[in-house]
Amino acid sequence: MTLVTEVRLRRVLDSRGDPTVEAEVTTESGGFGRAAAPSGASTGEYEAVELPPEEAIAKARERAVPRIEGQVYAGDQRSVDAALRGADGTADFSEIGANAAVAISMAAAKAGADMLGAPLYQHLGGAFRGNEFPTPLGNVVGGGEHAADATDIQEFLAAPVGAPSVADAVFANAAVHGAVADLLDERGIPAAKGDEGAWAPAIDDEEALALVSTAIERVEDEVGFEIRMGLDVAGAELFDGEAYVYSDTTRTPAEQVDYVAELVADYELAYVEDPLDEDDYEGFAELTDRVNDQTIVCGDDLFVTNTDRLRDGIAQGAANAILVKPNQIGTLSDAFDAIEVAREHGYDAVVSHRSGETEDTTIAHLAVATDASFIKTGAVGGERTAKLNELIRIEANA
Ligand code: PGA
Ligand code: ZN
Repeated sequence: MTLVTEVRLRRVLDSRGDPTVEAEVTTESGGFGRAAAPSGASTGEYEAVELPPEEAIAKARERAVPRIEGQVYAGDQRSVDAALRGADGTADFSEIGANAAVAISMAAAKAGADMLGAPLYQHLGGAFRGNEFPTPLGNVVGGGEHAADATDIQEFLAAPVGAPSVADAVFANAAVHGAVADLLDERGIPAAKGDEGAWAPAIDDEEALALVSTAIERVEDEVGFEIRMGLDVAGAELFDGEAYVYSDTTRTPAEQVDYVAELVADYELAYVEDPLDEDDYEGFAELTDRVNDQTIVCGDDLFVTNTDRLRDGIAQGAANAILVKPNQIGTLSDAFDAIEVAREHGYDAVVSHRSGETEDTTIAHLAVATDASFIKTGAVGGERTAKLNELIRIEANA
């Protein structure tokens, strides 16, 4: 068995121009892995704690690195992640920072794969991995916390459910992104891009729904397979404690359930993420009951990749899918456990990027390794295409 010999940490840039934590892990036999933590903007209240990168690096060097260097076997991901948990000692990684933890966890996984001479998805998924590939959900129009003076709903997504391959799906999402640009141009509506590369025009949600529907129809005609629409409402960001506050109206929780159920029916939505507040299990359960057979209802801020919160949701019938962001929980082992619990109970897993990203491609491998149904990692933009192109490579080489 080969030991981890070195863990190095540094600050690197993320896609918003903010510093984030990068880790490098080296093994006795010369295996090497490098990974960087992403960062959210519309973060869930119950997420693991991200510390300022400099502080996270100092704390992790002091507490976690000595428990890993020369102490754990490379390739034994459970031991690496247990060492991180042990070094931190809290439930939410508030001592060493979930950003330091997840960077080390992912870098160690890559070092383990490198040592074994296997691609990361193979190392993580093992011999019993299925042959499913995730459908990429492409963010094409967005606002909320990801762009100023744009839509209230955070993300309007293309869901190429009929694509014959991952590559076809990736190109279809980029084509929908391009078709949205054409439609905006035809209508003389200027638009910059939000944090995830989606167009962020100053239009209301209704206009955005119509615009994305038209863009999807245009691309469907070109590619000849089914593309649907999805939404990330990011309900917690709209909820003020009593009601959902939109630019032009306010909806009570009951009205919000009705509204989202209507959107699912009217636009044949394939996917709805965080339709309600992160504490409203009941509302999630009611909506899920109404639309369960029509669409995927996914909990992001609701579950925060946390198996305890997921089990609560399962018990109440809240949602039928979980969004999986390794940095929400701190380690790859925890992310795997969340996917495992979801699968046992018939919930879909949707592996996801954050709005602040780097060129790191770990989530592409995680989605393939776990046979996740979907991956949400944008449609265009270098930090997004890093993952999308990695998926294309994995599919081509699998
Ligand atoms: P975040 O948003 O990365 O800014 O939290 C992504 C999402 O809500 O899915
Ligand atoms: Zn979300």
